[in-house]
Amino acid sequence: MEVLEAMETCTAMRYFKEDPVPRETLEKLIFAATRASNPGNSQGWEFLVIEDPAIKEPVGEKVLAGMAPFFASRPQGQDGVEERMLVGAEHLAKHFAKVPAWIVGMARKVYPPHDPQEGFMHSTIYPAAQNLIVAARSLGVGTCFTTFPGHAEAEIRELCNVPDDLHMFVYIAVGYPERPFRPVKRKPVEEVLTWNRYA
Ligand SMILES: Cc1cc2nc3c(=O)[nH]c(=O)nc-3n(C[C@H](O)[C@H](O)[C@H](O)COP(=O)(O)O)c2cc1C
Repeated sequence: MEVLEAMETCTAMRYFKEDPVPRETLEKLIFAATRASNPGNSQGWEFLVIEDPAIKEPVGEKVLAGMAPFFASRPQGQDGVEERMLVGAEHLAKHFAKVPAWIVGMARKVYPPHDPQEGFMHSTIYPAAQNLIVAARSLGVGTCFTTFPGHAEAEIRELCNVPDDLHMFVYIAVGYPERPFRPVKRKPVEEVLTWNRYA
C-alpha cells in the first residue's frame, strides 16, 4: 500500500477482532516507530507491549473506573461524528482487556543532554507513534491512539515493573479491525495552507 493511501485511511479503530496480532507484526510496528525523526537523534523512546490478559484485565477495570464519570456525563446532542467517536471510545474502554495488544509509548527525559527538557519527550514519542499507526494501517492492522489508560498508569507501572524514569505518553490499541478502514475526515488542504504570506 502507498504511504499516502495508508495515511488517508488510517482511521482510529475502536472495534477489534480478538485474534492475536503476531509478535513479528508487532515488532514491525516498533521498527516503524523507531525510524521516526526525533530530537538530536537522542531516541529517548521505549515501547511496552501488553498482551497478557493477567495485566490487561486489572488495568482495564481501573481504566473503566477512571472513565466512568466522563461516560456518565457524556455530552448529549453531539453531531454524528462526535457521537460515534464517544460511543467508540466507551466501547474501547469497556473492551480494554479484549484488545489484542496495547502499546505504551514512553520516553525518557534525555534531551538536550546538558539540560533535559520535558517538552522534548513529547517531540520524541508523537512522531514515533504516528509512524507506528501508519505502518499498522499498511499491514491491515487497526490502531487507536488513546490517553485514557493514563487512569491506570500506577497499575501498569506496578504490574509491568516499568522503571521510574520512563514517562508514559500514549497508549495505542492494536488489533485486526472489526470495522472497515475509511478515509479520514480532515479539513481541506486549501483551508490550512498559506503560500509565503497571509493576505
Ligand atoms: C494524542 C491523541 C490522543 C487521543 N486519545 C484518544 C482517546 O483517549 N480515546 C479515543 O477513543 N481516541 C483518542 N484519540 C483518537 C482521536 O480521537 C481521533 O484520531 C480523532 O477523533 C479523529 O478520528 P480519525 O482519526 O478516525 O479520523 C487520540 C488521538 C491523539 C492524537
